Amino acid sequence: MYIDATEKKWVILVLLMTAVIIGIITGYAVEFNIHPPSNVESIDSTALHLSDEFNEDQIGVKTDKSGMVTVTMVAARYGFFPQDITVPANTPVKIRIASADVLHGIHTPDTNFNTMVVPGYVSEVNTTFPRAGDYPMLCNEYCGFGHDYMWARLHVISRDKFSNQGE
Ligand code: CUA
Repeated sequence: MYIDATEKKWVILVLLMTAVIIGIITGYAVEFNIHPPSNVESIDSTALHLSDEFNEDQIGVKTDKSGMVTVTMVAARYGFFPQDITVPANTPVKIRIASADVLHGIHTPDTNFNTMVVPGYVSEVNTTFPRAGDYPMLCNEYCGFGHDYMWARLHVISRDKFSNQGE
């Protein structure tokens, strides 16, 4: 098969660029521990307030006997509930969040916490926040006129401080 010399150059260039781009994406994914969510769990979004896990009294931060920290949250136009979340630094944290209405997203800059919150499903993220500090949790899927105002606060505190607050 005859391939023109110029065409050959471009084919090589495009293949090289593709390899570089895939390399960069893979490098970032490994470096920052980024991977697609794998939890598939359905829930009735219209009845979150009646569910055992996502009702008003149950949402928030909980530590079980083994020391596992679980954060349960509800996303609803236009806020994340509870609005203030405090978790320990350098500790595995499981975050479970469900939408009470439409599609939302939740994202904390400078961390790898970022997931879509699809109505009808529970989004689950297992992560560790290495640095103490106050972070915003922002909605990153357009969900209506109040989208820009949909956010909550994440407080990452040292493990000692966390265990001393009597949780
Ligand atoms: Cu919720 Cu945008």
